[in-house]
Amino acid sequence: MKNSLAIIIGFLIFGSLFVGWKISQDLSPAETATAPQQSEGTASSTIEFNPPTLDDVPDGPLGESIKYGYDLMMETNTIADEYVGNNLSCASCHANGGTVKDEAPMIGLTAVYPEYRPREGDVYTLEDRINGCMIRSMNGKMIPEDSKEMRAMIAYLHYMSEGVPSGAEIPWRAAKEPKQFPVPSVEDGEKVYAQSCAACHAADGGGTGSNTGPAVWGENSFNDGAGMSRLTKMAGYVQKNMPKGQGGTLTDQQAIDVASYILSHERPEFKGHEGDWPKGGRPADIMNKEKREQVKNGTIDWEELVTIKK
Ligand code: HEC
Ligand code: HEC
Repeated sequence: MKNSLAIIIGFLIFGSLFVGWKISQDLSPAETATAPQQSEGTASSTIEFNPPTLDDVPDGPLGESIKYGYDLMMETNTIADEYVGNNLSCASCHANGGTVKDEAPMIGLTAVYPEYRPREGDVYTLEDRINGCMIRSMNGKMIPEDSKEMRAMIAYLHYMSEGVPSGAEIPWRAAKEPKQFPVPSVEDGEKVYAQSCAACHAADGGGTGSNTGPAVWGENSFNDGAGMSRLTKMAGYVQKNMPKGQGGTLTDQQAIDVASYILSHERPEFKGHEGDWPKGGRPADIMNKEKREQVKNGTIDWEELVTIKK
């Protein structure tokens, strides 16, 4: 009896000591200061997708610029009309200003640029990359780097990348190479389009609005130098995100069928194709004018287009 009492008292003393030690550890500034260091080795797996909200943007000129940057992303074709050559906004592909995890998100980009780009064969700054989408996806002109517009877009992207450590591998960033898809059927794709896409993107592909159903082909869509004009890239995007609100419901076959149908139509031509991939490795699945002709003649080699070469 005496012995067990001693043990209980012993536990109580030890327990309170432990709790006291634990509290001091939790409150200790040293503990919080060392936490990031401990996770450094596994940075890529620990970064969370947690973009800040625009409600927390600071007052004053910087805050104004950040908000203007967001507006530019959402309404590019109206606000920055003089630079845009179609009816799209950045948000036509980078949903809600690049803040949606699966829809070409733009969170964390100021932590990874400048970066080497194989397509252009050069080191690219974030400004260069935005202008890459301007002349291809937006079928437009480059926005001057010293303009109010470019400064605002950078301010916005910088704000949105808060907390992402420099040089981090961002887990939600698109894979460098698209995945392998089965050989498509344009005819089956036409049926998928009529049934699941035309309501928002219009039967003639011209769209119903840059943020309700953007133009997927024709003069108001992206040009054939855009990333989205790669067959497997579009199929991947569609499979993940479309029909809007029902991402992941199409099979790989349906996704590649509808992408081949969309990309078999006419769209603006990119003038700089010859300058692309100067260091080699050009992907086969860019649906340019020549490939669209081949679709019409029935001579296209789909097998080649969906085979990712290592
Ligand atoms: C037609 C679709 C489309 C439109 C419109 C578009 N983009 Fe893009 N953008 C893409 C695709 C596709 C990628 C490549 C991401 C990937 O590899 O899947 C990309 C990549 C980017 C990147 C680099 C992302 C990274 O992870 O390195 C930036 C920055 C960017 N776009 C900015 C913009 C801005 C700013 C606009 C508007 C001025 C815009 N984009 C309009 C489709 C589009
Ligand atoms: C309910 C409306 C809706 C439906 C249905 C829908 N989309 Fe979209 N789509 C959108 C919106 C809105 C965007 C702009 C990006 C965003 O907000 O996700 C978009 C963007 C796109 C884009 C990139 C932008 C562009 O102009 O090319 C493609 C490609 C696309 N959709 C293909 C499809 C396909 C294929 C289907 C059918 C399988 C489909 N969508 C069904 C609303 C829709």
